[in-house]
Amino acid sequence: MIEIQPKELKALDENVRQELCDIFDRDPHKLTDRPGRTRGHNIEPAMQLLRPIVDDLLGVDNWQLDGAIFFETVTGYRVHVDTEKFGPHRVWQTIVFPLRQELTEQAQLEKNRLIIFDQVWKKDAAFFLKGSPDAPQEYNGVIKDYKDVINLREGYIDPYVEELCPHLTRENFEGLTVDKTFTWTPGIPITFPRNRLHASSAFHRFGITKKLGLSFFLAPNQSKRNTGSLSV
Ligand SMILES: [Fe+2]
Repeated sequence: MIEIQPKELKALDENVRQELCDIFDRDPHKLTDRPGRTRGHNIEPAMQLLRPIVDDLLGVDNWQLDGAIFFETVTGYRVHVDTEKFGPHRVWQTIVFPLRQELTEQAQLEKNRLIIFDQVWKKDAAFFLKGSPDAPQEYNGVIKDYKDVINLREGYIDPYVEELCPHLTRENFEGLTVDKTFTWTPGIPITFPRNRLHASSAFHRFGITKKLGLSFFLAPNQSKRNTGSLSV
């Protein structure tokens, strides 16, 4: 398993992008379980459309899907990892497919960004909330002591993150350094290793009122792994 460093992928065909939006919009089971955040899990038809992209990135028969989610949201997201809870041997790549955004006339598109930090987390899925009083009851655990965060730069505050992330408590990203940031552009997929800490900018404060995306959480193909034949 070779981790692929953060990068953008080739743009989706416009018809595919539109069809993915339709899959989410028509899903009768989508769930608004928090204010301003709706998720959908009608993944099978989305996978039919996107399988060639994943095959191209990770290799045919080399991967399996460990989780996936459509998310429509009006607020920036916390620092977190996408490691799920199946153990580090299952943690490979995330692919985020930005699908749609709604804008005001003053929108600063370049500030609608996904921030990928250099830091790595080898444990179960978590939010990184040092200095925050909140303890959200969600699937992800909550980490307030960063001693097990790999590559931490003690005491460092990145000024660009401070500018992009007024939705975060400053201490949340203390010690985190930026590897790459990507403009969150509908139709342009982004990939990065699932064990990298990442966050979204506070896009809603920069004139982007809503965004819809789809995330795939990918693992090495476990059946190949069990026969010892995984060679990516
Ligand atoms: Fe994520």
